[in-house]
Amino acid sequence: MKHKMSCCLVFRLLVLSALAGAAAGVQAARGRREPWTNGSWFNMGLIEFKEWSNQTVVFSGKSRVCAHLRGLTPGQRRVCRRHKDHMPAVGDGVLRGIRECQHQFRHKRWNCTVTADETVFGPLTLIASRETAFTHAITAAGVSLEISRACRDGRLASCGCSRAARPRHLHSDWVWGGCGDNLEYGYKFTEGFVDIRERERKVKRGSREQGRQLMNRHNNEAGRRAVIKKSRVTCKCHGVSGSCSLITCWQQLATFREIGDYLRDKYEGATEVKVSRRGKLRLSNPNYSLPTAQDLVYLEDSPNYCIRNISLGAPGTMGRECNKTSAGIDGCSLMCCGRGYNTKKIVVKERCECKFHWCCRVDCNTCVTTMEVYTCK
Ligand SMILES: *[C@@H]1O[C@H](CO)[C@@H](O)[C@H](O)[C@H]1NC(C)=O
Ligand SMILES: *[C@@H]1O[C@H](CO)[C@@H](O)[C@H](O)[C@H]1NC(C)=O
Ligand SMILES: *[C@@H]1O[C@H](CO)[C@@H](O)[C@H](O)[C@H]1NC(C)=O
Ligand SMILES: *[C@@H]1O[C@H](CO)[C@@H](O)[C@H](O)[C@H]1NC(C)=O
Ligand SMILES: *[C@@H]1O[C@H](CO)[C@@H](O)[C@H](O)[C@H]1NC(C)=O
Ligand SMILES: *[C@@H]1O[C@H](CO)[C@@H](O)[C@H](O)[C@H]1NC(C)=O
Repeated sequence: MKHKMSCCLVFRLLVLSALAGAAAGVQAARGRREPWTNGSWFNMGLIEFKEWSNQTVVFSGKSRVCAHLRGLTPGQRRVCRRHKDHMPAVGDGVLRGIRECQHQFRHKRWNCTVTADETVFGPLTLIASRETAFTHAITAAGVSLEISRACRDGRLASCGCSRAARPRHLHSDWVWGGCGDNLEYGYKFTEGFVDIRERERKVKRGSREQGRQLMNRHNNEAGRRAVIKKSRVTCKCHGVSGSCSLITCWQQLATFREIGDYLRDKYEGATEVKVSRRGKLRLSNPNYSLPTAQDLVYLEDSPNYCIRNISLGAPGTMGRECNKTSAGIDGCSLMCCGRGYNTKKIVVKERCECKFHWCCRVDCNTCVTTMEVYTCK
């Protein structure tokens, strides 16, 4: 038997303390000048860390693995050198984020296409659009989740099970303990590793670049908070044959699909903002309601993603499957941007009318159905 409760009072406190710690730890880039990177740290998700996993030496001691990871900024390399053993979990987290992005956007014009180079999403992420906002939130969430879980599983040297305080509303007979996902550590590490990019470069206050830094930090934060918000206290019965004489509870992460669904809603309701001359994000239309730290924000309108545009890195929707009867964005008229669609008949063979014979045989017929598939011109 499992009891589920909503978590969030406890974790509001966690987040606040984590934020205070992070603010104190902020420092601008110092010391040796290393070349600024072209690519994105999202590239960590495309690295085959699994192939290296039996070379434990790679992630320990004097190994120079951090110098070879592409897409990291100088600050991220410093964090990498201090926490080499975290890098496979970071990679897993980004990959999770990319896969979830592709799932959430599978019926949209932009479907989270990954390019072959270390920019990962290509030049499209140079546009400060709501899609770009989503990529930041979902990858930050993925890394937060993977690090929290890796702590719990004892895969990292510098953290272990959650040490979150007992929730106040927990039934007094129930035991708070067990080995929970370490959400606090996951949050803090991700804050340090991901957001450092946005603080390393001095940019002009109120400039487009500064707006972009603020936007990225806001959306990264929204992703990390989604992980905490969707987490819950989970409890389990113990005792002879289900007598439930002992109940233990711990902090448990949600599935990443739940987090993805939540962030997708945030994407749909994202708020357009602009950067003020004093270097703060402001509503672009004062009639909108103010975004909270859980909401996504963006600075620029999206391209229409209709037509292939190489300089933008946009593949366009030619050849994409569409739904003839849907009036939504997955429908042929919106997906194909009015260009029309091709119809193809495909023949599907399926096992059907299966009968079970005692014992133990199943006999089926083969049914042939034709289906129509529509693809954009
Ligand atoms: C950035 O990209 C340009 C053009 O693709 C390349 O010439 C340059 O070497 C790259 N710089 C770094 C630091 O990778
Ligand atoms: C890791 O181990 C597998 C099998 O144990 C081996 O085939 C593979 O070559 C090893 N990889 C490396 C990079 O050592
Ligand atoms: C804000 O709302 C008011 C009243 O509803 C309207 O007159 C005004 O045009 C709106 N402003 C913008 C920038 O949309
Ligand atoms: C690609 O997009 C850019 C930026 O929006 C635009 O200036 C350019 O004309 C587009 N190219 C094509 C071939 O549509
Ligand atoms: C996204 O769309 C492109 C065509 O624009 C297609 O080639 C690709 O397979 C799609 N990717 C996913 C993950 O659905
Ligand atoms: C197409 O859209 C309709 C209406 O939204 C929906 O009922 C149907 O399941 C969709 N078909 C496919 C193949 O997704």
